[in-house]
Amino acid sequence: METRLLDSDSDSLATAAQILRDGGLVALPTETVYGLGADARNDTAVARIYEAKGRPSFNPLIAHVPDLATARRFAEFSPAALEIAKHFWPGPLTLVLPLKRNAGISPLVTAGLDSLALRVPAGVVANKLLTEFDGPVAAPSANPSGRISPTTAQHVLAGLEGKIDAIIDGGACMVGVESTILDLTGQPALLREGGLPREVIENLIGTVATGVENSTTPKSPGQLLSHYAPKAALRLNAYEAYDGELYLGFGTCPQAHLNLSAKGDLVEAAANLFKAMHELDRLGSPIAVAPVPDTGLGRAINDRLRRAAAPRDDQA
Ligand code: TXA
Ligand code: MG
Repeated sequence: METRLLDSDSDSLATAAQILRDGGLVALPTETVYGLGADARNDTAVARIYEAKGRPSFNPLIAHVPDLATARRFAEFSPAALEIAKHFWPGPLTLVLPLKRNAGISPLVTAGLDSLALRVPAGVVANKLLTEFDGPVAAPSANPSGRISPTTAQHVLAGLEGKIDAIIDGGACMVGVESTILDLTGQPALLREGGLPREVIENLIGTVATGVENSTTPKSPGQLLSHYAPKAALRLNAYEAYDGELYLGFGTCPQAHLNLSAKGDLVEAAANLFKAMHELDRLGSPIAVAPVPDTGLGRAINDRLRRAAAPRDDQA
């Protein structure tokens, strides 16, 4: 299949929306990372996402919608959930809520769970496309399963060219790490650290629990170890590189090969993280990573780095 590279002007977005209506796959920029979108009501289209990514089928997907009103068609919002959504949407926060069973969401999106992950992205291009399409778009990150998430259209092309119908090029993603996932089906529980820092959520609703991964039915398979893996080995909290290693710095690091943020800014570091990992991965050498403070967006950065450093099956 030929993968079309589209602009983000209104004609291109109309074309992209039509590809989605026809059951095709469109990679789209959001403020977090590029997503691989399909009509969330179309089983075949959603199955093609799993196929293109080579993704294990137990991994449920996030449904993206243009606004809260649309979200309410697909899931039950308690008064508390409504308050949270009004406060943080559009933005890098995914809410897991009780699914409305007859609203037409494909069971391949929820992987058979009775909950649905919903998100209203803040990215202007994503939001325009969702409005134009006028339906829910299932979209995991637009990378082959287990690889680094894409933050540019070029990353998407490198991983999925020939396997998807189109890519909308909206430039680099502003946030650079995936959305934070908050489970509101019971007591609020954070299933994945991400673009909206835990502290910001806790300022609104008080302390939130940390979701516990269940090994047979992961609450959020983003919790699986070795999920964001580059090909080369990664060594964390390194104050310097050993011979043969490339150094990924944070803050003042004169010897860094690449720096997540020379001025030690966590927002800038998050935006640069996957780009830097893609770049170092391309060079093929083992990577030593400078310590990153574990506060605010640093939590999500460290989470992704730990996964990338975790041992993998294919490295037996
Ligand atoms: O920023 C993001 O969230 C990006 C952009 C494209 O929106 N999307 C993204 O999707 O990261 P993905 O598929 O890579 O990660 C979705 C996560 C997975 O860990 C999945 O297990 C979890 O959301 N998830 C989806 N539905 C769930 C549910 N019903 N219950 C618990 N976790 C769920
Ligand atoms: Mg992903």
